[in-house]
Amino acid sequence: MPTKDQSGARSGRKMPDPFALVVFGASGDLTSRKLVPAVFRLFCDGLLPDGTSIVGYARSNKTDRNFRDELRKSTRATLTCKGQPVDDKTWAKFASRIHYHRGSYDSPDDFTLLKRRLEALTAENGAPLNCLYYLATPPEMFGPIVLQLGRAGVAATGAGDGTWPRIVIEKPFGRDLPSARELNRRVQLVFDESQIFRIDHYLGKETVQNIMVLRFANSIFEHLWSHDYVDHVQITVAESLGVGSRGGYYDRAGALRDMVQSHMMHLLCLVAMDPPVALTPDAVRNEKVKVLAALRRIPPECAAGGVVRAQYAAGRIDDAEVRAYRRTPGVSETSGTETFVAFKADVDNWRWAGVPFYLRTGKCLPRRCTEISVHFKDVPQVLFNRPPAGPLPPNVLAIRVQPDEGISLEFQVKAPGPAMNISPLKMDFGYQESFGSPPPDAYERLLLDAAIGDATLFARCDEVEAAWRFVSPVIEGFSQDNCDKILEYPAGTWGPAEADDLIRADGHQWHLR
Ligand SMILES: NC(=O)c1ccc[n+]([C@@H]2O[C@H](COP(=O)([O-])OP(=O)(O)OC[C@H]3O[C@@H](n4cnc5c(N)ncnc54)[C@H](OP(=O)(O)O)[C@@H]3O)[C@@H](O)[C@H]2O)c1
Repeated sequence: MPTKDQSGARSGRKMPDPFALVVFGASGDLTSRKLVPAVFRLFCDGLLPDGTSIVGYARSNKTDRNFRDELRKSTRATLTCKGQPVDDKTWAKFASRIHYHRGSYDSPDDFTLLKRRLEALTAENGAPLNCLYYLATPPEMFGPIVLQLGRAGVAATGAGDGTWPRIVIEKPFGRDLPSARELNRRVQLVFDESQIFRIDHYLGKETVQNIMVLRFANSIFEHLWSHDYVDHVQITVAESLGVGSRGGYYDRAGALRDMVQSHMMHLLCLVAMDPPVALTPDAVRNEKVKVLAALRRIPPECAAGGVVRAQYAAGRIDDAEVRAYRRTPGVSETSGTETFVAFKADVDNWRWAGVPFYLRTGKCLPRRCTEISVHFKDVPQVLFNRPPAGPLPPNVLAIRVQPDEGISLEFQVKAPGPAMNISPLKMDFGYQESFGSPPPDAYERLLLDAAIGDATLFARCDEVEAAWRFVSPVIEGFSQDNCDKILEYPAGTWGPAEADDLIRADGHQWHLR
């Protein structure tokens, strides 16, 4: 088993300058369940310098004390589930850095008061005024908050004292190409692109980062990574949960906006991109943008024929009854929003010409699992790949992004015995077994990167727009379509039969089933 230092898991990290993490929408779910537990873990690991503080900003009426109490409970609940108990003394030290500031998202006066509070806080801590603004509100508020930050004059650089303001913007970044462009324009009026961190927590997952290491730190894979040897690639993002209490939000989004435009496009880019010339933010993101630019568009008139789009009906998952999507609070009874999509994408470049990428995502599927599988070409029909031993299953390299993070390689071996019997075998690497602990939460890595100023794992403006350029025409195609036509699948199944037909038509089947 590698030691912590050999694995580099926590070693060699640059420490950020002391900073104030200012979270807008701090009374919400993301702050309590993800952000604060992640910052607490960084604190426990000694990765937050003295003078760093957290300022929660929201409209709800709270005192510093209420806020700290609520966060203690939610952090404890989150981390205990992961086997990371919260020690009272450590929490007390951490909690003294947490503050709450009540204000609205469109009031210049409230932002002026916030600015004064931040100045007072940093003076009190003896720290410079570095601010990491984190937009954790519903997306409608992103524009108004940025406007007020600009008016309050907190975003300007060049104060000459080396301090920095940066902004982290949650997903979804826009609803379609025009709205994403408009949001980019509004944010860039106030912040320079180098100060903007568009977050998608998938990119902070260890297994997602490991795609680049697997491909570019090993000589055996990269030579095989093209149409010469790869038959096809599958990307599945399966969730076993339904929309839960987020029905109102989800019904206006759907799987294409919520999953495909962000998480799945990032995964596709990391699998398909050419090796960057350096591990710098722009070198990596340039390669990702090239993949998005090479994606063959699915025009609106072809959306219904090329994309399987469905909604879950009532069913059962793990012996529990699940009500139909349209019976969920916040969801319209006549909703045409998709909770499942499957489609084939083509990357029209020299590396990938002729290699289909099958993408599939859905809610209320039998289990939660995100996997990328690279299916290599069949061996020729000589020697073993013909009766009686053949046909042989192809080699498959499967990257499990979550849960049970790891990588497996499926290949053929001779089964022991006098006959030439061939049997498929799996070589498996699991994070937990190899490194002794589950990988850290994605938000830990991403918050630290933003505080350090490393934007490699954040989306650049052109990247977000390029992903929308692919997804928007599909959404447009379906909005022209009659909503009654949406397919259904029982909760607890792998989606409608049409998703299986899509891949079967090319002679394949889904790897996860
Ligand atoms: N929750 C997650 O796991 C998750 C994961 C990935 C991305 N995100 C993204 O992160 C952001 C925050 O997510 P969240 O789940 O924390 O959101 P949330 O709980 O719905 O909202 C966060 C806070 O925003 C404030 N707010 C401002 N305008 C609002 C409005 N019109 N309606 C409702 N609340 C409003 C509310 O605080 P006050 O009323 O006190 O001002 C609320 O507590 C969203 O953009 C979401 O898409 C969330």
